Amino acid sequence: MTAFKDYLANKHTRPAPLKGLRVLEVCTLLFGPAGPAFLATMGAEVIKVEMPPLGDVTRSLNPFGWFYKEQSPMFMHINPSKLYMGLDLHQEAGQEIFKELCAKSDIVEFNLRPAVTKRWNIGYDEIRKINPGIIYIEKNGFGQWGRYAEEDRPSNDGAAQALSGFAWISSFPKRPPLKQSIWVCDVYGALMGEVAVLAALHHREKTGKGQYIELSQTENIMRAMGWVWPYQQLAGKGAEPSGNRDQCICPADTFLCRDDQFAAVAAPAPDEFKGLCAAMGHKELAEDPRFKEHTERLKDENALAILKVIADWARTKTADEVEQLGIRYGFSATRLHSGKDMFEDPHRRQRGFVKMIDDPMYGYYPDHEFPVMMSKSPPRHRWTVRPVGFDNDYVMAAILGRSKSQIEECYANGVLGLWKDQQGRRPPPDWDGKSGAILRR
Ligand SMILES: CC(C)(COP(=O)(O)OP(=O)(O)OC[C@H]1O[C@@H](n2cnc3c(N)ncnc32)[C@H](O)[C@@H]1OP(=O)(O)O)[C@@H](O)C(=O)NCCC(=O)NCCS
Repeated sequence: MTAFKDYLANKHTRPAPLKGLRVLEVCTLLFGPAGPAFLATMGAEVIKVEMPPLGDVTRSLNPFGWFYKEQSPMFMHINPSKLYMGLDLHQEAGQEIFKELCAKSDIVEFNLRPAVTKRWNIGYDEIRKINPGIIYIEKNGFGQWGRYAEEDRPSNDGAAQALSGFAWISSFPKRPPLKQSIWVCDVYGALMGEVAVLAALHHREKTGKGQYIELSQTENIMRAMGWVWPYQQLAGKGAEPSGNRDQCICPADTFLCRDDQFAAVAAPAPDEFKGLCAAMGHKELAEDPRFKEHTERLKDENALAILKVIADWARTKTADEVEQLGIRYGFSATRLHSGKDMFEDPHRRQRGFVKMIDDPMYGYYPDHEFPVMMSKSPPRHRWTVRPVGFDNDYVMAAILGRSKSQIEECYANGVLGLWKDQQGRRPPPDWDGKSGAILRR
């Protein structure tokens, strides 16, 4: 495709789309920081403000207690390309510095419990007085008002999956609920937050005015649950869990194959269904009145009948054979991949999605690139994470114009701080003490 000719070779020389925007975040875990990370990858200057010396608790969340060069791989994946500031917002002096930064920023983001920002004198009403153009977003579990907010409930992805009904609908019939092991409410919530932020930027461009955005993680995932809530609301009927079977698309399910691997098969469109029937050696099924029309096929009895035919057929083929037949006959069929398969898939490397990062602090290691390509202004991973307060001096001197002695005073009063010397917080053992720094003490 000509728009993407030499894309991978040239993307580092082209300006990222959000270059020139400044974002402040006081965010924790995944739901909070993942949003600004999207903006950072799109080229915005994102300053991650953390409480020194421990910072974001995500720094302690890692698979089975495993660290990569003393850092949580999950924290690295969620927070790339940001600047790191250790600033105590309990202190008035910290709040003043934060407000000065707000005056010089476009966007400020939080995912704390309701009322925390007001307690720190950095609520929207305070900040908009300083910067009427600011786009101010607060995300949390249940919103800033309403019963759950008044109860000051903490929230997290698992709670959102449970409360929204998502974990319940994701299970198999008559089996316990199944929480998804990826943090889908966090990442999807973070993404929706940034959709609103970008819309607010557009609004500001037209009117000159900033605005306040609030996002409830649970409401967001409820809205994402496709047909489940409309069916309840309009038909007055509750959806029931159905495992891998799709209840709006038929056939669409996951099948056990001859080699004990699984293949996901879907063939809702007329040609796809005809292709699947031909691949199974049962062309006549495509004309069977129970199956010919999609709406007929969806009726429970008919759906169970055709799914049984496919299940029996799939058991006679390997998952790879089913996948190949899907390509040949024009229906969707995919062998289920593991994490290892995904990592090794050459298709991902060819597209530059799985790539080697070369970071001045963390060295040469593989990670995912941003999954969106833009032909004129490519988003891109710029650098890896840094310890708490790593960029304090840059932010204080270059952005706020503070002198060396003023910065020293902030450190002496504990307003500014650096990382703790412990696993998950300190720099890698092979760090030379200066690489990766823009300006450090
Ligand atoms: C995640 C959550 C449960 C954490 O709760 P919490 O630790 O009690 O923190 P709060 O939201 O009340 O925020 C205040 C805390 O922020 C922390 N904090 C973060 N950055 C800070 C900074 N720069 N300066 C001072 N304190 C900071 C402090 O620990 C502070 O607690 P303290 O005032 O008692 O010292 C809560 O923030 C929450 O429900 N957030 C919304 C839902 C969400 O995003 N969940 C995470 C997704 S998995």
